Amino acid sequence: MTEIEFNSPQLTSRDFEKIRALIHQRAGIDLHAGKEGLVKARLGRKLRDSGSRSYAEYLASVESDRTGESLAALIDALTTNYTFFFREPEHFNFLRDEVLPKLVERPSVDIWCAAAATGEEPYTLAMLLLETCGLASRVIATDISTQALKQAKRGVYPADRFESVPPAMLRKYWLRGEGRAAGFYKAKPDLASAVEYRHLNLIAPFSFPSPFPAIFCRNVMIYFDRPTQRRVVDRMNQFLEPGGFLFVGHSESQCAAHPMLEFAGPAVYRKRKGAGRE
Ligand SMILES: C[S@@+](CC[C@H](N)C(=O)[O-])C[C@H]1O[C@@H](n2cnc3c(N)ncnc32)[C@H](O)[C@@H]1O
Repeated sequence: MTEIEFNSPQLTSRDFEKIRALIHQRAGIDLHAGKEGLVKARLGRKLRDSGSRSYAEYLASVESDRTGESLAALIDALTTNYTFFFREPEHFNFLRDEVLPKLVERPSVDIWCAAAATGEEPYTLAMLLLETCGLASRVIATDISTQALKQAKRGVYPADRFESVPPAMLRKYWLRGEGRAAGFYKAKPDLASAVEYRHLNLIAPFSFPSPFPAIFCRNVMIYFDRPTQRRVVDRMNQFLEPGGFLFVGHSESQCAAHPMLEFAGPAVYRKRKGAGRE
């Protein structure tokens, strides 16, 4: 046994069950059996940083922290923020060709990006929006992870993350770093101000002043169990205009099966006309 293994606290099945219940209750995330290794890998550092000698001690410190910061850090650690620019590109073609042309007459268009992670998805949407709908339009980008949102708001990414961004868009919307910032790009002011970031937990109560013509909620429902997926889609529906579009991840199509939605394309659903706010 190596020294590291010897020193790292054991994650007992009781600890795992507690963490599983906590993350399910607070974030809707379904950590099924077999995810013990992931929990150890992601929480080991937090445990050491908190000075705890066991997971039980660490969990007690999370629960007694009235500021909520330890819980937010635990949620940050257990969420998967993997994403990239123009991920699942057919969706962006659909948005550009089928959705935005019908909205151009509006003075402004707001799109909700409901699992924005580190920002690549909302910036992709904002570039398309700026190309078609003008400067008053916005992407409302939300996520449960405070850490991911912080990175997203900075709007700075290494150059190799832009391989999927068309070169003309890269030049138009991104500033190439020089000197100490060489090798990085930063969102230019028009792009940065087209995205509004907000902390939002999809399984907690939330509200918006008006419904959206399009919602992107991609690659997050795979982490939820079926009843949670259904509740989230119900809530999305309340904030979707009749005739508006819900985009889900390509492996999440079954999550979106809902009487108020009809199939519009692969992993794209349209809210039936005549379906109100419920
Ligand atoms: C894999 S990323 C998906 C990013 C992006 N939508 C994409 O498709 O590339 C999943 C995101 O969902 C967020 N998430 C997980 N549970 C959530 C919840 N209950 N409410 C809001 N966001 C959540 C995570 O923090 C993470 O950033």
